[in-house]
Amino acid sequence: MTNAIPQHSPVMDANPENIARAADLLRQGKLVAFATETVYGLGGDATDDRAVAAIFAAKNRPDFNPLIAHVPDVQAAERLVEMDGRARRLAAAFWPGPLTMVLPRRKDCPVSLLASAGLNSIAVRVPAHPLALELLRAAARPIAAPSANPSGGVSPTTAAHVAEGLGDKLAMILDGGACAVGVESTVLDLTTEQATLLRPGGITLEQLAEALAAPVAIAQGHDETGPKSPGMLASHYAPGLPVRLNVETANNGEALLGFGPAAAADMSLSPSGDLAEAAANLFAMLRALDRPPFRGIAVSPIPAHGLGLAINDRLRRAAAPRS
Ligand code: TXA
Ligand code: MG
Repeated sequence: MTNAIPQHSPVMDANPENIARAADLLRQGKLVAFATETVYGLGGDATDDRAVAAIFAAKNRPDFNPLIAHVPDVQAAERLVEMDGRARRLAAAFWPGPLTMVLPRRKDCPVSLLASAGLNSIAVRVPAHPLALELLRAAARPIAAPSANPSGGVSPTTAAHVAEGLGDKLAMILDGGACAVGVESTVLDLTTEQATLLRPGGITLEQLAEALAAPVAIAQGHDETGPKSPGMLASHYAPGLPVRLNVETANNGEALLGFGPAAAADMSLSPSGDLAEAAANLFAMLRALDRPPFRGIAVSPIPAHGLGLAINDRLRRAAAPRS
C-alpha cells in the first residue's frame, strides 16, 4: 500500500540547509516541489517565463490554466495585486492558510504573463506550512505552484506521491510530511463586485461569508469568454480506475471508500464522520485503492456542508467521464 520512493529520488528532508538549497534552485529557474498545508506544490519562479513554462511542461498542463503566485505575507501580496478592503479583511482572517484570492494585477507586477495565462488578474496565496513559508522567504520572489502531479491526476499529499508522478522532472522535493488539510485552497474571485467562489477548498463558504459579512456567489463553470477558473474542467483529480459516488454497497470488484461509522469499507475517509479528517485522507486513499485487485472505486455519500463542498467537488471530477 505504501508508495515506495523510486531510486535516485530528489526527496530531501526539510532542514535549513536543504531549504536554502531549494531557494537557490528556485532562483536559478529550477523546479522544486514542496509541502504546503493543502497539497504539495510544484514550485517555480513566478517572475521567470522559462521556469513557468517548465512547470506547464512538467505537468503536461493546458497552458490556458493560470497558476497561483505563492508569497510569504500580505506585504508581498500587495506588491503583486490591488488589494481592496475585502481582500485585506480576508487576508487578516485566513492568511497564512488555504485561501487563494484572485485580484487585479498591479501595473508593476513582476509575475510572468504566462503564469496568469494572460489574464488581468493574479491568484495569490500565503500558505500555512512552516516549510513553505521559510522557502518563500528565502526565495524572496513569488513562487508559482500548481499541485505537484501530472495534469488531471490525483493531487499529492506526501513527498512520495510527488516522486511517483514527477520525480524525474524536479530538481528537489522538500519533504514536509503529510499535508494537514489535504484538499487544495479555496479560490475566491475578488475582481467582481460580489465575491465569487471559483473552487471550493480548505476555507469553507460559511467561513468566507462570515468574515465578509456578505454572501458569496458560486461560479457556474465556464462562461462564453472561456473558463473563468480552468480548474473547473470536468474530469480532474482522476485515479486510473473508474469512480462511482454516493454508494452504500460496493459492486463485485469495487473497493468501497467509506465515510462515517457504519460503512463496511475497504478504507474509511473518517470512521467518526469528521469532514476535516476526510479531506486530509481523500487523495491518499484514492491513490491507495487505485490498484488491483480492485476494478473500480465506490465512495460513500459525504455531507455537502463545510469542507464537504470541497470533498464532493473533487470526487465529482474524479468520477467525471474521462476525455
Ligand atoms: O492549495 C493549492 O491552491 C495548491 C497548493 C500547491 O498551493 N495549488 C493549486 O494550484 O491547487 P492549481 O494550479 O492546481 O490550481 C489553481 C487554481 C486553478 O483552478 C486555476 O484555474 C485558478 O486557481 N486560478 C489561478 N489564477 C487564476 C486567475 N487569475 N483567475 C481565475 N482563476 C485562477
Ligand atoms: Mg491541481
